[in-house]
Amino acid sequence: MSFKTLPKIELHHHLEGAAPPAFVRDMARAKGFDVSGIFDANGAYQYDDFLQFLDVYEAATKPFQTPDDYALLTAIVLGEAAEAGVVYLESFLSPDFCGGRDPGAWREYFHAMWEAALSAEELGITMRGIVTAIRHFGPEAAREVAACARETAGGFVTGFGLAGNENAGKTADFAYAFDMAREAGLRLTAHAGEWAGPTSVRDALEHLGVERIGHGVRAIEDPALVADLAARGTVLEVCPGSNVALGIYPSYADHPIARLRDAGVKVTVSTDDPPFFHTDMTREYEELARAFGWDEADFAALNRVALEAAFCDDDTRVRIAERLE
Ligand code: HPA
Ligand code: ZN
Repeated sequence: MSFKTLPKIELHHHLEGAAPPAFVRDMARAKGFDVSGIFDANGAYQYDDFLQFLDVYEAATKPFQTPDDYALLTAIVLGEAAEAGVVYLESFLSPDFCGGRDPGAWREYFHAMWEAALSAEELGITMRGIVTAIRHFGPEAAREVAACARETAGGFVTGFGLAGNENAGKTADFAYAFDMAREAGLRLTAHAGEWAGPTSVRDALEHLGVERIGHGVRAIEDPALVADLAARGTVLEVCPGSNVALGIYPSYADHPIARLRDAGVKVTVSTDDPPFFHTDMTREYEELARAFGWDEADFAALNRVALEAAFCDDDTRVRIAERLE
């Protein structure tokens, strides 16, 4: 079966993390940046572990400096996602990496991305942005990012998130930023239970009041938490290929996504950072089919869960649902 043409909903994707290596190298050359250290001899992103991945990730964002650079990045990334059958994409946008923390610049950056996203509608793909703070930059920076999210909320920007090193700082210290975003009407998600254990998932639910968890897969280590996630209807944005590439699980067959689903947890499937993890949505479906025998009906069910959990308005949800038929 060809999974390429199946329509797909993707909820967990980092815009900067989707930049193809060749594009980063071209951009770096044009802007006078040396990025040679982040690539291996084959020109692929190079990292040995999770913390090094975060450093390489940040280094790869440096050549992108202007709203136009981000518009081009958005266009390229949406073209690739559409090619893999993605009909709706939510992407994490990190103001810390684009335009520094200059409040005047944020609107311009997001406007440029939105224009590029509107142009990509003709490919049959719709994009929404989740303004995302970087946990290891600290709670104060997160509040500034929440202020950015508040300033730009509506239309394109529909959510607020937290990514980066899950072990950095105390989760409760990020509650204020999430309160700001919630008051601005934004939907909330946070990375937890990827690199850090099940306690990080509990902390995100308790202190940040999120309705979705980025990854969350290490909840599997705590059966009471798994039952709790199922009972609450918390949606996990699961990125199996990312977890395998970063060594959290040795293979797709060892990944807990099927066990979580079978325990009644709402799971969805995403790529996280496609070129970093040598994946795209088609490959994720192929690997899940191979590991667990999932078929078209399983993927259709996953997409219904994902669309239901999408941070878009209901008119958009109805429009996207038509693409799943
Ligand atoms: N985890 C945390 N932070 C990230 C990731 C991830 O998988 N991708 C990009 N930033
Ligand atoms: Zn992520």
